[in-house]
Amino acid sequence: MHLNKSDIIQRGAEAVLYRQDGRLVKERVSKSYRIPQLDEEIRKRRTKTEARLMEKARRSGVFVPKSEMTGKYTITMDYIDGAKLKDALNGMKPREQKEVAEKIGAVVAALHAAGIVHGDLTTSNMILKGKELYVIDFGLGKTSHKVEDKATDLFLLYEAIISAHYGISEEMWKNIINIYMQKYSTASEVMQRFEKIGKRRRYK
Ligand SMILES: Nc1ncnc2c1ncn2[C@@H]1O[C@H](COP(=O)(O)OP(=O)(O)OP(=O)(O)O)[C@@H](O)[C@H]1O
Ligand SMILES: [Mg+2]
Repeated sequence: MHLNKSDIIQRGAEAVLYRQDGRLVKERVSKSYRIPQLDEEIRKRRTKTEARLMEKARRSGVFVPKSEMTGKYTITMDYIDGAKLKDALNGMKPREQKEVAEKIGAVVAALHAAGIVHGDLTTSNMILKGKELYVIDFGLGKTSHKVEDKATDLFLLYEAIISAHYGISEEMWKNIINIYMQKYSTASEVMQRFEKIGKRRRYK
């Protein structure tokens, strides 16, 4: 791998991301605290999972960068030239925030309706490009039709919104769930479970 420092986008907890020929390469790197054999299995599994779920989500009509597995630990994908939602959201006008919340609700509804649980729904894993809200980082996801898994997925999102978007989180959440309920037929079951998860947490 020959990298210029300037090509590297991020050296994350788990992966190195860099630009190559106009696209983006995400390569899962070895973690020295893991037993080597386990480390390799985890990197392989997450890479495969991510590539598979990205395609599945894209086919379900969600904006996801077009991607291919280009190695055991490597995915090459389209580079989305937009703004990471985590950084962009707080500075937007209320009307724009509402639009974004509705897009988030619609995206999660589409994923869950397709049986895709993302596993790390945070605004760091969403990129806004014009009017299009892209979702990335599917390595912790899975295919599941279980209400519990979907409720857990939503709970993660809820916590992410509260922690990164303090002050607007209540309004954001209301608008997210409003659209989620409209667009996803099993949403009320998921929301009932969501409430239970909240109670379980509070009584711990
Ligand atoms: N296709 C893409 N186009 C543009 N930017 C991207 C793309 N994929 C990832 N990024 C940028 O790189 C960051 C890390 O990507 P990703 O979330 O997939 O990796 P990660 O190892 O899980 O990182 P983290 O631990 O921060 O979540 C994203 O938050 C985003 O800013
Ligand atoms: Mg991420």
